[in-house]
Parts: sequence; structure tokens; C-alpha cells
Amino acid sequence: MTAAKDGRTDYAGYDRPHRDLREWLERAEKLGEVLRVEGVDWNLEMGSVAEMIYHARPDNPPAILFEKIPGYPEGFCVLSGATNSARRLALTLGLPMPRHGLDVVRAYRDRLKTFEEIPPRVVNGGPVFENVDRDADVDLLALPVPFLHELDGGRYIGTGDLVIMRDPDTGWVNLGTYRAIVHDRNTVGVWMSPGKHGRLIREKYFRDGKPCPVAISVGHDPLLFLSAGNEVDYGTSEYAHAGGHRGIPFEVVQSELHALPIPAAAEIVIEGEIVPDEKRPEGPFGEWTGYYASKVREDFVMRVRRVYRRNDPIMTMARPGRPPSDYSFSKCVVKSALIWDDVEKAGLPGVAGVWCQEPGGGRLFNVIAIRQAYAGHAKQALLLAAGSHAGNYLGRFVVVVDDDIDPTNLNDVVWAMATRCDPQHDIDIIRNAWSGPLDPRKRAGDHFNSRALVDACRPFDWKDEFPPVAEASPEERRRTLDKWGHLLKRLG
Ligand SMILES: Cc1cc2nc3c(=O)[nH]c(=O)nc-3n(C[C@H](O)[C@H](O)[C@H](O)COP(=O)(O)O)c2cc1C
Repeated sequence: MTAAKDGRTDYAGYDRPHRDLREWLERAEKLGEVLRVEGVDWNLEMGSVAEMIYHARPDNPPAILFEKIPGYPEGFCVLSGATNSARRLALTLGLPMPRHGLDVVRAYRDRLKTFEEIPPRVVNGGPVFENVDRDADVDLLALPVPFLHELDGGRYIGTGDLVIMRDPDTGWVNLGTYRAIVHDRNTVGVWMSPGKHGRLIREKYFRDGKPCPVAISVGHDPLLFLSAGNEVDYGTSEYAHAGGHRGIPFEVVQSELHALPIPAAAEIVIEGEIVPDEKRPEGPFGEWTGYYASKVREDFVMRVRRVYRRNDPIMTMARPGRPPSDYSFSKCVVKSALIWDDVEKAGLPGVAGVWCQEPGGGRLFNVIAIRQAYAGHAKQALLLAAGSHAGNYLGRFVVVVDDDIDPTNLNDVVWAMATRCDPQHDIDIIRNAWSGPLDPRKRAGDHFNSRALVDACRPFDWKDEFPPVAEASPEERRRTLDKWGHLLKRLG
């Protein structure tokens, strides 16, 4: 493998990006970022152990590798939370090791300024074909598919997955992370929310009365998950997007049935078609909002006719639920960087930071900090952040703050809202916005939601007369630290 195109050496000290999930895991382990756990059952235990650990360690959660899963071959593993820390995100994306989540946001957004996609390279074979089950031999439950939350409608093979589909009109290949439930040994339900690219593609096949070819990778390089699970523009392939971050192309092989490009080094890929003439109950599923918001519904099914897998495969899992979850931090970082990039490309100057708060699942409570430069600047920031591709779907609150507020710090943000925002003047409501069935505040059939745009900046017209902040000046703080900083050490 050649070194990254731009000569980056930020892959945690390595001179080239990791080759695949296995090499990523080795590197993450050397950084002390992986917790190996043996003997955890697929039935509820994996989900509950992940919840226990991610709730207990919100500040620096490890990735969890579930090994020796009862009832399954010894080498079959499940990996939870691959990208869910600032250090693992930096490792995955090939960015400098950060001290703070906002360092990754900044580095990611800086990269986007000169970002170039790198399309995937088609190769003839790969480890994904080490084992191939065809037709009657397909048995999805031969894999350690977790049953994640008590009220789920079934076992979900796809959570940290890549749903790979080709647009029948243009040939564009889209990758999206959409949940996939196992109905039986060779039938799966893939839930794609209205407006998602995979759903738009499926509708094109159904419009012509055809089944929709699909491949789903359920174990792969976490970098592909970061692109598939976040908003990449319509018409752009997530392979090329992730390749741009990697600095060299991803290698893909053509699947047997539909020649769909699948990662050559994927751990497990299933392939078949979503058919227009069969539906089965899908859901409920504990979701990222922290609720089982969408009830069980009839949805189209995928008939699975191939399972490709490596020896001793590693399945990737992302368990949503009441935040923090095993991917909520990573979602906030990438989403913040994408919104930052979107608003700057739309012409917004003076952005000091963007942070999508974890309790809002990276969507429901987003904060943008600006250096206010003109009347109306704050409102422009709100409208653009709320309307951007990355920030639009299922949003709720967007807050703009001055640049003395750290947007990642909820204490700071709430203080700004409580003191600089006069609700009658400074909150606007946007109606009939892009929502979805996962919104817990919506009733079935209610398609839209609303947004609160909260201006928590000092009022621009009299910002220089705004009462001074009651805290030590930078000079006084420095003097105190020099003389009395040792007291902090005593606090531990
Ligand atoms: C772990 C995880 C699970 C997700 N599950 C779903 C899902 O079940 N259905 C859905 O429509 N979007 C889901 N999403 C959101 C989409 O992956 C995301 O909006 C992405 O941009 C969709 O790809 P697209 O823009 O190509 O449609 C999930 C995201 C993550 C990170």
C-alpha cells in the first residue's frame, strides 16, 4: 500500500492509513482505546453492557470488542463504539491527536477547505470473499446478531452498517447507515427515513416495478461508517468522500449478484434485493433520540441471497439509545464539522466554533459561535446552520452565541441563553421543517416539525454597553494561576 497522497503522517504516528478494520483495531489498542470483553451474550447483554459503559464513562469511552460470544464460533466478534472518542476519531480520520473534541471538529473542517474526493479503486478479489454462502446456505443468524434493547422488535444486524445501492439513472453509488432487522435466516428489513438518499434510490427502482439491488456491509473500516452515517451530498459517493479523508482510494470488489462495489477488506457483507411486493412488520427500535419513537410498521423486505465474510469476522455495532450512546460523541464531532463547512461555504464569516450537543443526539440542539461583525450576522448564522444539509434533518434548537462562549460547554451555552437572550425578541420559530418518524414529539402521520432559532448573543446594536462579565480579567487570572495554581493540584 502506498503512503497517503498528501504525505500526511497523522495516522497516530504511522506513515499510511490503516489497511482495514483489523489494522485499525491494532492501532487503537496500542493507544489504549479498546476494552476486550469475553462471554457477553448477543441477547440483550451486549446492548446493556455498552449502555452501562458509555453512561459510566461519558468523557473518554473505550471501544468495546465483544469476544467469545456464547453460542457462536470462538473467533466471531462484535465491535461497539469504534469512533466514539476524540483520539479514535483522529486515528480513523488521520488527524493530529487532539486534546479536546473541538480540536477534531476544527481539523476536520480545515481539511474540508481543500478537500478532494478520491474515488474507490476496483480490484479483482479481497478477503471479504474468504467465505461465501449462496442461496439456500444463507443463514443470517449464524452470525452473532445482537438483540439490543428490551422493547426492540427483533435482532438488528445493521446498526453500524453501510447500505450500498446504485442509482439506476446515473450509476451513482450511495452508502447510508440505515438500521437493518433480521426477519428470518434470509430476510431483512432496511428502514430508510423519508428523504434519505437510499430511499430515493429505492423509489426509482420501484417506480419501474423492479426490485432494488442492495448490499449491506456489517463490518468495515470505521472511516466508511463516518461517511455513510453522516450527510454527504446527494450524488457524491461516500466511498469517494471517505477516500478523500483517507488520502488514498478505498479498494472495492464487485459483488456476485449485482456488481455492487463492496469494500474488498470488509468483514461481512450481505447481498440481495429489496422487493416491491412484500412487506413485514419492522420496529420498534430504541433510537438515538433516547426513545422508541416509531412504532412497529409494515416495511419492504430485502431477500438475502449471498453472505460474504472473512474468517473470524468482526461485526460493527452502533447502539442508539438515551444519550450518551456508543456513537453519539462521534456523531456530534462530524456533524459539527459538516455544519461549519456548510455555513462557511454559504458565505457566513466569523465562525468561531460549531458544536452539536450530545444530549440532542447531534441533531436536536446545535450551537454556533460567531464573532459578531454586523447587524443581522447572528440571524444569518442561525438560518444557515438550521438550513444546511448537515443540520436540517430532525433539528429542533439552534443557538447562536458570541465567541467568548465555548459551544461545547453546556454550562456556558445555557448561561448565554439565560442572560443574553430575551425570548420575545430573540427566538424565532421556523415551521413545517424536515422531520421524520423518529421524532418523539410527533404523532404518527405528523410529517413536519418546527425549529427554535435562539439568538443568545449580546444584542448587536448595544453590545459594547452590555454589562461587563463578572469574572477575573485575563491578566488577573494569569497572575492568580501563577501564584495560587498549586491549589488546583491539591484538588486532584
Ligand atoms: C448509527 C446510525 C444509525 C442510523 N440509522 C438510520 C436509520 O435506521 N434510518 C435512516 O434513515 N437514517 C439512519 N441514520 C442516519 C443516516 O445514516 C444519515 O442521515 C446519512 O446521512 C444517510 O445517508 P444518505 O445521506 O446517503 O441518505 C443513522 C445514522 C447512524 C450514525
